[in-house]
Amino acid sequence: MTADTPSNKQFLADYRPWPFELRQTALEFDLAPSATRVTAVLDLAPRETAADLVLDGGKGLQLLRLAIDGAAPDPAHVRRDEETLTIAAAALPQAAFRLETEVEIDPSANTAFEGLYLSGGMFCTQCEAEGFRHITFYPDRPDVMTTFRVAIRSELPVLLSNGNPVRQQPGLAEWHDPWPKPSYLFALVAGDLVAISDRFTTRSGREVALNVWVRPGDQDRAGFALESLVKSMRWDEDVYGREYDLDVFNIVAVDDFNMGAMENKGLNIFNSKLVLASPETATDADYERIESVIAHEYFHNWTGNRITCRDWFQLCLKEGLTVFRDQQFTSDMRSAAVKRISDVQALRARQFREDQGPLAHPPRPDQYEEINNFYTATVYEKGAEVIGMLKTLVGDEGYRAALDLYFDRHDGDAATIEDWLKVFEDATGRDLAQFKRWYTDAGTPRLTMREDWVEEAEGGTLVLDFAQETPPTPGQPVKPPRVIPIAVGLIGPNGDEIAPTRVLEMTDARQGFRFEGLGARPVVSALRGFSAPVMLERVIDDATRAFLLAHDTDPFARWEAGRDLALSALTGLAQGQAGGDGYVEAIGRLIADEGADPAFRALCLNLPGEEEIATRLAAQGVTPDPDAIHAARGDLARRLAEAHEALLAGIYDRMVVPGDYSPDAAAAARRALRIAALGLLSRIDGGDRAEVLFGTAGNMTERMAALTCLIRRGRGQTALRILEEQFGDNRLVMDKWFTIQPMVAPPADAVEIARRLAKRPDFEWQNPNRFRALLGGLAGNHAGFHRADGAGYDFTADWLMRMDGANPQIAARMSTAFETWPRYDAGRREKALAALRRMAAMEGISRNLREMVSRMIA
Ligand code: ARG
Ligand code: ZN
Repeated sequence: MTADTPSNKQFLADYRPWPFELRQTALEFDLAPSATRVTAVLDLAPRETAADLVLDGGKGLQLLRLAIDGAAPDPAHVRRDEETLTIAAAALPQAAFRLETEVEIDPSANTAFEGLYLSGGMFCTQCEAEGFRHITFYPDRPDVMTTFRVAIRSELPVLLSNGNPVRQQPGLAEWHDPWPKPSYLFALVAGDLVAISDRFTTRSGREVALNVWVRPGDQDRAGFALESLVKSMRWDEDVYGREYDLDVFNIVAVDDFNMGAMENKGLNIFNSKLVLASPETATDADYERIESVIAHEYFHNWTGNRITCRDWFQLCLKEGLTVFRDQQFTSDMRSAAVKRISDVQALRARQFREDQGPLAHPPRPDQYEEINNFYTATVYEKGAEVIGMLKTLVGDEGYRAALDLYFDRHDGDAATIEDWLKVFEDATGRDLAQFKRWYTDAGTPRLTMREDWVEEAEGGTLVLDFAQETPPTPGQPVKPPRVIPIAVGLIGPNGDEIAPTRVLEMTDARQGFRFEGLGARPVVSALRGFSAPVMLERVIDDATRAFLLAHDTDPFARWEAGRDLALSALTGLAQGQAGGDGYVEAIGRLIADEGADPAFRALCLNLPGEEEIATRLAAQGVTPDPDAIHAARGDLARRLAEAHEALLAGIYDRMVVPGDYSPDAAAAARRALRIAALGLLSRIDGGDRAEVLFGTAGNMTERMAALTCLIRRGRGQTALRILEEQFGDNRLVMDKWFTIQPMVAPPADAVEIARRLAKRPDFEWQNPNRFRALLGGLAGNHAGFHRADGAGYDFTADWLMRMDGANPQIAARMSTAFETWPRYDAGRREKALAALRRMAAMEGISRNLREMVSRMIA
């Protein structure tokens, strides 16, 4: 492997506070696309004697001036290397001093979109995690917090930074952020932008001006984001007692953005796909996601900004908690049951997958080479699950008390997971030493449940015997048992609930729980609400699953019973066994039930995806065969459609939503059920309904669903052309257009389709959304990406290597397409490994991609 990028292994155990105090920061920007000047004035004071001053700042900074208390230091005391600027202690005053630097940087050459860059003529920044060091020399670490004063000089009309505006005049803007913050929360935007605006009065009476800034012409698609912001602000006051703390809150939409969005203090910067929406261009899923990400970034103002992280190992302190909060918010705004089920689906699809392979890591890792590689499903989504368990264990009141204490005790701090657990211990008196393993240990526990029924004179006793075991993960061969909250209810033979939900606290490797005085043997509803992120294994037949699907009072467990039926059928079919009749029948009863919630019926009608089937097989120790899985799923879908054609057609005809489009949960649920029915019907109607719907629907949700069916039937060409004619100049719609083709294509064609699309002039591969659209679309075609001849691997590796030269973060992130390679057959493994090795051997490979591929190869 080439080692031209220096290794950068960081260890949690090595944490040391910074030896200086930073009292304030003043920045001045003279913006010019290829030669921006940045002056930084840092008021510093040593906290230790004889410490060298080491500032982060790389090759891209051209140092023009350096002064300490107004004078240039002796050059013999100043050292620069690839990533730092060091001023020897000998050149520093013993007491407070002022450091001034002036640098020149080139935003127009910044294709990595980290630091200050240009996107469609507008200047913007992304500093988390370590982007600020590409702007100026600085202690770029989250535990160095201070107030910022920022002056921006530019002829562009809108000039924004964090905090409150101090001065706005043509060519100059000044901002002051009174809340001490680390550099990763710094932001600057300058461009030709327009705002849609509102006002919010906080409950203590602070007047806040709200703006969503977009490019001229996009205003009519920004309203939903603004409404979502207002709802978020109110919710955080109502539920967490958290108020906003500045006079303005700005959101800016940017077309080139590596991630979803960023919580910079008072100036959130968003990927435009998470701001812009209209019924014609965005789906119901897009609307829901916009609402939740706007909330997520807003909620960071307290969980992330007012209380930040001591170091990047603690990332899940802010991300896990903020995801948990945005999940609660969405549950309150929409349907809690549907939200929980979709969160679990996403967790399994992304986090269980990660935990099962070579990239497994704990929610709080203890080492990394490139922190950007740890913005993962484990840190975010599993981080949120861990908080959900904590809340289950201490109860709602305990949780509220602990959070109040957290805000009280740690406001203004850069905190740790230990601090977080301590507030729960202090507020509730509970010992969380064992619970902490959820943060420090990787891997998904396997929980096995055995039932023992003891018939007695007066009824009987049920004993539930649980065993937990977590398979080894990289660097962690042995896993001690964890605390697992297992929510259980009992259903009587007539379908009535006879024991409401009770949370069993499992602490040992094996543990039994007794339910006494039961009349007749009940059916166990286990892991209600998905009370812990584990894989539950139990001996259960299809009849019992169907019984739970019909009668369980817990919506998650009820859905899970149906899911389990589907997965047991599909994993069997994929291994050449017969099966699935029980599932087809049970689904028939469910969809005939007019009283059932449309959203719930929609969730049950959607078959598990091919990736999920593969993951289930792998967990059972079976090598997944992508082609067999694809065939099995298609087969079961067709059988469902044939068995219930009339019912499905009835649903399709009746679930039309009258009136103007609204993205609310009830309307979205009807559409979801309607298009779930369409998806099945199109397996047997040749795609005729889909063609009509594509031509008549006024909303993108139904049009995309119809297009999916048409492509699957091999008759998508006309619809694709129409969409392109209509929306060729709309990036967000064209991203969907680029994704859907390789994703839905027959597996044998997917790579060729991706190859053809990659040659189009509008495949602007340096735009992260467009790149993700195409490569992610292919990776989302399970059997297409894992084509036996390795063409999917090669095509993807070629593009990752090209992207790595421009934008290492995106290349590294997309490389996770390969993370499941060890579970496939020898032929596929060999080809995937060859592709990984080819990437590893690339000259000039980035630290980001190198760390990912070497973890995957190891
Ligand atoms: N803190 C952002 C969030 O809301 C994510 C930013 C991550 N950016 C990055 N380049 N790693 O989740
Ligand atoms: Zn976040």
